[in-house]
Amino acid sequence: MTVTAVGRRVLEHVISSEQFGRELLDSLFARAADLQDVRDERLKGRIMATLFYEPSTRTRLSFESAMLRLGGSVLGTEAARTFSSAIKGETLEDTIRMVSTYADVIVLRHDEMGAAARAARVASVPVINAGDGPGEHPTQALLDLFTIERELGRVDGVRVALCGDLRFGRTARSLALLLSLYPDVRLVFVAPDVVQVGGDILARLDERGIRYTLASQLDDVVSQVDVVYQTRVQKERFTDPHEFEQARSAIRIDATVMRRLDPRAIVMHPLPRVDELATEVDSDPRAAYFRQAANGVAIRMALLELLLA
Ligand code: ASP
Ligand code: CP
Repeated sequence: MTVTAVGRRVLEHVISSEQFGRELLDSLFARAADLQDVRDERLKGRIMATLFYEPSTRTRLSFESAMLRLGGSVLGTEAARTFSSAIKGETLEDTIRMVSTYADVIVLRHDEMGAAARAARVASVPVINAGDGPGEHPTQALLDLFTIERELGRVDGVRVALCGDLRFGRTARSLALLLSLYPDVRLVFVAPDVVQVGGDILARLDERGIRYTLASQLDDVVSQVDVVYQTRVQKERFTDPHEFEQARSAIRIDATVMRRLDPRAIVMHPLPRVDELATEVDSDPRAAYFRQAANGVAIRMALLELLLA
């Protein structure tokens, strides 16, 4: 159980963006800023297990870096689908029960939506959702929001175009939920119909009174936003190759798009990119995606401290 200075439990597991409110976000971001350059031993003796059933570069390595910078230790498997006993038929639940006895926190990436919630139900240590299929990727959304606040100096009232694969892209889903906590935020979901954002997310925005529109072309909106949040078409999640072809390369950011973007706006992307974000954009100071990825370490340090210290 996690306990704050005043003895109140804050977070037991990190499964969904829905667990975060403004107060917690503000304190987490302040903590991340403070921890940015810290290298110490405050988590000495604590062990983090990374269990990744899907590939990852940033999430796994930035979690490991965060833990090491705070003096903790890491163990894990990066291809759990084939290199853990899952290949022999062991259930996720049994695996989590075991790993709970080897580590103080488990960072789990899995291809099934709901896997992190299932893991949390049987775990005796905190579980952090590092992506559950097309469900959510809450720690990515935290670093995305932290990046918006750092780059633009505010989140209130920002206009964000969430682009690309909004149906299977879990980062955009989690980010939309977090953005909906801020007053006067306006969202535009820019995607071809076949990968437009799910009704579950829109229902939540409606409940919170957030203004949003749907669009199929970035051209229509690019000059009116503060943030363009581009995402990769999640090829691995399509069962119908025809649908993938319809989604593929539908929205692309290149130098032509950048000419229409406001000089103070930014371009974000959770990465990895394929062809939806041209490398010619990288040298533009408004390209924030590598700074965004770097912010993942400080956010994950703050989260690990919150869960373990
Ligand atoms: N890396 C992000 C994720 O795992 C985005 C992506 O893969 O396109 O959700
Ligand atoms: N952004 C992100 O989750 O990257 P990885 O898939 O490389 O972890």
